[in-house]
Amino acid sequence: MTQKKHAFVIQGLAGRKTLSGDIPVRGAKNDALKAIAASFLFEDTVIVTNVPDIADVASLITLVKDLGVKTSRNDREIVLEAPKDSSTLFDTHLAKMLRSSVVLTGPVLARYGKVSFPHPGGCVIGARPIDLFISSFEKMGASCVIKDDYYHLTTTKGKLHGADIFLDFPSVGATETLMMAATLAQGTTYIRNAAIEPEIQNLAHYLVSCGAQIEGIGTSTMKIDGCEILHTRGKKYVVIPDRIETGTFVLLAALAGKNVTITHCDPTLIRSLLSLLKKAGVCFTMTEDTITVSSTDTPYRAVNVRTNPYPGFATDIQAPMTVFLTQAQGESLVFETMFEGRLNYTEDLQRMGADIVMFDPHRVMVRGAVPLTGKELEGPDLRAGLAYVIAGIVATKESIIHNVEHIDRGYEKIEERFRALGVDIQRVQE
Ligand code: EPZ
Repeated sequence: MTQKKHAFVIQGLAGRKTLSGDIPVRGAKNDALKAIAASFLFEDTVIVTNVPDIADVASLITLVKDLGVKTSRNDREIVLEAPKDSSTLFDTHLAKMLRSSVVLTGPVLARYGKVSFPHPGGCVIGARPIDLFISSFEKMGASCVIKDDYYHLTTTKGKLHGADIFLDFPSVGATETLMMAATLAQGTTYIRNAAIEPEIQNLAHYLVSCGAQIEGIGTSTMKIDGCEILHTRGKKYVVIPDRIETGTFVLLAALAGKNVTITHCDPTLIRSLLSLLKKAGVCFTMTEDTITVSSTDTPYRAVNVRTNPYPGFATDIQAPMTVFLTQAQGESLVFETMFEGRLNYTEDLQRMGADIVMFDPHRVMVRGAVPLTGKELEGPDLRAGLAYVIAGIVATKESIIHNVEHIDRGYEKIEERFRALGVDIQRVQE
């Protein structure tokens, strides 16, 4: 079946701040995907709640179904039951649809003793190697053969063993994958220089509540004592609020809002962004699960941004932040430390009138405030795609954003939620 192509048509507000109302945050994509992967660690049925209705979740469900997992979905709840004997060969097309396919390799290898998969797909934002996964699996006793573009990993006697692993970079995917693999391995595993993103912590706490023995959650050294297959003991996996959506909505509200409240969120997950926005002059108040942004007549000030692993500034909010900086007075330096392709979209912002100079693939200088003009743009990946939508809302005239499929991968019915705030945005079929 060929997927229908869509575009967004936006009538810009020409810098006016008129949006008002509430906008709810959905469950985190990058938590829900890992919860689906974790189902392979359980003998019984796993129920995951607060799951966003997005294309990446649908793709991963299709992939695990293809491997033999029984699944059903009821609104924001999905039910997953991994089989006693699963297929361990990933379908090429499905695995290449998203990066998270690689996160399945840990639980599948640990439970069934082998796994075969192609290099994962996902957003084209840089090289995205998987060397940390392969070298760590080898340390845990797996052997790897690469043949016909597939990685074939096998264990002796069907089991991984514990290992002392140092990650050269605190990779989110590698930390989660190895933590899940170590949960069913024989003996003790240390993951040093581990990533501590909130989604990893949520996954780890859930596994512990179901019998896994993981210490050091939320720190850079994790100790995992391998155990037998897990049982949910009736506990549901509750997906945390999406911190990237939260931050992106705050930026939209700062740029185009009169009085906007972001609801169902956790403000503590975006402290690095809120700290910068305070410096920039954005007015906001918070409760435990809401952030209200109010408009101000004082122009925003330039601030420097450097992406970092959590709790630093998230690379996934870098693109909408750069749109914000085009509307702040002065020179801002944006340093994208993680992905070498993640500033390419700034060329399109320049076409809209932004004053941006690229020094190298990791660094740009943004000079503001400069009015943006609506244009016809191709969304390059999901985060930059949504940044274009925000640029279109701020700009004068009409913007047309093609490749909405990228945005649909990570944001649930975004046009409906933006329309509720007063944005003039339509989805059209191409
Ligand atoms: C996760 O990707 C997220 N994806 C990304 O969000 C996010 O941008 C990224 O973490 C960083 O926060 C999911 O959770 C599905 P990494 P991941 O491994 O796990 C290098 C989005 O928009 N590296 O932490 O793939 C890598 O090249 C997506 O929702 C190696 O060198 O990111 C990068 O420079 C996009 N070798 C750095 O580590 C490896 O084996 C961080 O990547 C693995 C990673």
